Amino acid sequence: MHNFGLHLLPDTVHSPDQPGSPETYLASNGVHAATAMPAETQNDGFTWKIEEWWQRTQNAREEDLYYYFQPVEEVDGPWVVTEGQRKLMFATYSYLGLLNHPRIAAAAKAAVDKYGTGTHGVRILGGTLDLHVEMEETIAQFANREDAIVFATGYVTNLATISALVGRGDWVISDKWNHASIVDGCLLARGQFVRYRHNDMDDLERRLSEAPTDVGKLVVADAVFSMDGDILDLPTAVALCRRYNARLMVDEAHSLGVLGKTGHGIEEHFNMPGAIDIKMGTLSKTIPGVGGYIAGDKKLINYLRHTARAFVFSAAVSPAVAAAIIEAFHVLKDEAVERNQILSRNVRHFIEGLQAQGFDTGITVTPIVPIMVGSEERAMIMTRYCQQHGVFVLPVLPPAVPEGSARLRANVTAAHTAEDIDFAINVFAEAGRVAGVI
Ligand SMILES: Cc1ncc(COP(=O)(O)O)c(C=O)c1O
Repeated sequence: MHNFGLHLLPDTVHSPDQPGSPETYLASNGVHAATAMPAETQNDGFTWKIEEWWQRTQNAREEDLYYYFQPVEEVDGPWVVTEGQRKLMFATYSYLGLLNHPRIAAAAKAAVDKYGTGTHGVRILGGTLDLHVEMEETIAQFANREDAIVFATGYVTNLATISALVGRGDWVISDKWNHASIVDGCLLARGQFVRYRHNDMDDLERRLSEAPTDVGKLVVADAVFSMDGDILDLPTAVALCRRYNARLMVDEAHSLGVLGKTGHGIEEHFNMPGAIDIKMGTLSKTIPGVGGYIAGDKKLINYLRHTARAFVFSAAVSPAVAAAIIEAFHVLKDEAVERNQILSRNVRHFIEGLQAQGFDTGITVTPIVPIMVGSEERAMIMTRYCQQHGVFVLPVLPPAVPEGSARLRANVTAAHTAEDIDFAINVFAEAGRVAGVI
């Protein structure tokens, strides 16, 4: 089997810098430049890296190991159909199972009838609808903050917010396992970019104490870490930020709807209302739309509305999406408690079931369940087996995760039934035996 080096989905910060020459880069991924590059290829400065990706993906496809970008043809609760085959979806972020919720779908349809499918452009000029105002008010209310701003995606939200806030001389201090959108925001910002060891509050304090007292200090972390499913130590992070006069920004991409009895996220989980200065969230996971938001005090949001370049110079979310988001937050209010109870039960059932089969599920305490397999090869073999036997799951490989910690990432949701979960555990167990993991 090939050294795939299928370094896809590098959405944390484990990515090393790419080696500088085509030869070393290709060789490190099991591809040799001399044989990889067709002789007739015009070789400008970009060719080698484009060619290298072509080789990698072709190799994986030829060995039936490429399961990315599969078009989903049908959605039926947690089941999907891809290439005519019915599969149980475990590569989803729809934690509370709100995809296809009838109230949310009806709101989107009504918005298309009323406003059409697009807007007059960017929000600051002609693009703001009354729906956008209602959407931001709804989010602010849910987050229990004065105001909120919505960006085109969650990725853009982190990029735009961090780069708008952290100027020359300021410091941004980021957990090493933070999502790529946070890392990219830190790289784009003009200040000092510093990282602390994952969820290590002593290391965070060390970094904070190194920063000059008279500069802006932004500490940023995921609430639930997207590769391992563990939770930020919010109480200590808040205490440190207060002590060192730093602002705390928390990304609730995977905690909205998931943490807290009523799905309000990490503040509810730790019973610390109002603890976070800058509450970030996505609208593409528990909320079945697209977009990202920042909720905070009204002066902060006003600042972002006028200075965050990816907001000022980019289009508004469509009317259908805005209406779906508003209705989804209303649905959360009505249904989160019940759905959350089911989700917690499913998380326990799934993790305990996998562990009983002999799997290592890492440090997760949330619906993000890593099935640790070690090598890339095992991860790919298990993925192929699962995909061929009715479970839609994908591998996470280095450098998205540290070397030697390749895994399948299986997300369980409130839409899965107990029978669904048992079915999946059995398929994972068979796959684990085939790949020599258990
Ligand atoms: C922690 C975290 N933040 C931000 C994002 C980006 O959100 P979106 O996909 O809505 O752009 C993701 C996406 O997976 C994420 O996991």
